[in-house]
Amino acid sequence: MVVVKVCEDIFWVGVDDKRDILFEGLWPIPYGVSYNSYIVKGSEKIALIDAVDRFYTKEFLSNIEEVVKFSEIDYIILNHLEPDHSGALEEVVKKTTKAKIVSSQMGINFAKAYYGGNFEAIAVKDNDTLNLGGHTLKFITAPWLHWPETIFTYDINTSTLFSGDAFGTFGALEGKIFDDETNVREYENEMKRYFADIVSHYSQFVLKAAEKIKDLPIKILCTTHGPVYRKEPDYPIKLYLKWSSGVDEKKVLIVYGSMYEHTTEIAEYLEEKLKQKGITVKSFNLCKVHPSFILPELIDSKTVLLGSPTYEGAIYPPVSNFLEYVRIKNVRPKTFGIFVNYTWGSNIIEQLKNKLNENGMKIIEPTLFVRGKLTEEDKKKADSLIENIIKIII
Ligand code: FEO
Repeated sequence: MVVVKVCEDIFWVGVDDKRDILFEGLWPIPYGVSYNSYIVKGSEKIALIDAVDRFYTKEFLSNIEEVVKFSEIDYIILNHLEPDHSGALEEVVKKTTKAKIVSSQMGINFAKAYYGGNFEAIAVKDNDTLNLGGHTLKFITAPWLHWPETIFTYDINTSTLFSGDAFGTFGALEGKIFDDETNVREYENEMKRYFADIVSHYSQFVLKAAEKIKDLPIKILCTTHGPVYRKEPDYPIKLYLKWSSGVDEKKVLIVYGSMYEHTTEIAEYLEEKLKQKGITVKSFNLCKVHPSFILPELIDSKTVLLGSPTYEGAIYPPVSNFLEYVRIKNVRPKTFGIFVNYTWGSNIIEQLKNKLNENGMKIIEPTLFVRGKLTEEDKKKADSLIENIIKIII
C-alpha cells in the first residue's frame, strides 16, 4: 500500500496483512488486519510511532523512506511492544543513526528482551511531553491495552490520539485508510470480534483509559489496527465503552458440539421453543464455528445454553475448549443452561457444572440428559428449562 498523509506533518506508513490466517496463532482473520504506523514530522524533530510485524519489514522500510530519510528520525515511539507492532523494529533501528526509543520503562525492558539493548532509550511517564517543533507529543500511560507496558501518544497541536491496540479492529484497510473513505459500520462485527478476542480480558482498563482521555479533544484517532478516524473519532471509543461496561440484551446463545446430530436435535428444539416465545436466539455448532466468532456474541448475552455429547466419559473436546476460551476472556454471561446427549457414556453434567461454577457462573435448572433422540419426557423437561430462562431474561 502507499503512504498516506493523515494531516499536516503526520503520515500513515503501515501495512496490510492478508497473509496470516490466524492472528496471535489463535484468531482467524478472514478479512486480514492492518498494522498501522505513523510518522510525525516536526519542524525540529521527527518521530516514528509504532512499527509493524516482522514479515512486512521490507514494505515498511520502503514506506518510511517515502516520507523521511532514516538518518532524520529522532525518535521511535513504541506505544505497545507486541511483535505485530515491534517485529520490524530491529531493522529500522539498524538503519537509523540517531533515533532513540521512547516508551514506558516496561516497554523499553520488553524491547531489550526481544531485540537486545543496542539502542538509546527514553522512558516516559504520564503527562511527559516531547517537543518536535510545531508538534508537542504528550504521553498517557494506558496499561493493559493490551499488555502491561502500553501507553497512548497524543499530539497536542493536531488533537491526534495514537492509541495503540485500543479502539482497533480486525480487517485490512485495502487502500482506504480513513473512516470517511469506507463504511466503518461494516467493520463493526470485526471490531467487536477483535475486542472480544484480544481486549475483553482487560475491559476494566479500557474504562480506566477512557476516563483518562475523556476531556481530551480528539480530532483524529489513529489506532494500530483499522481505519484512521477523522470524521467520527469517538465512534470506536463509544463502542469499546459499551462492550467494556457489559451489555445484557434479551438474547440467548445456544452453543454446542455434536458428533452425530443428536445434540444438534436438542439445540434445534430449544432454539425453536425460544423463538416461539419471542426471544432472540443465536445458535453455534462448535464443530463448525471457531470460538473467535462466538466470544463477541457473549458480550451482550445474558444466558447461554451449552450442549455437549459425552466423549470418553468426558466433555466433548470442542466444548471444553470453548469453555477454556470463555474462562480466559472476560466475556462471561452469568447464567448457563446445560444439555447433554449420550448413548452409553457417563453423565458429564456434574463436570460441566463444576467447570461453570469454578468461573462464578450460575446454572439454570433443569439440566437435560438425553439418550439418543428426544423423548416426550425430555421435551417436557426442555420446556421447563425454557420457562426458567425466560424468567431470568425478561
Ligand atoms: Fe496489536 Fe497487542 O498487539
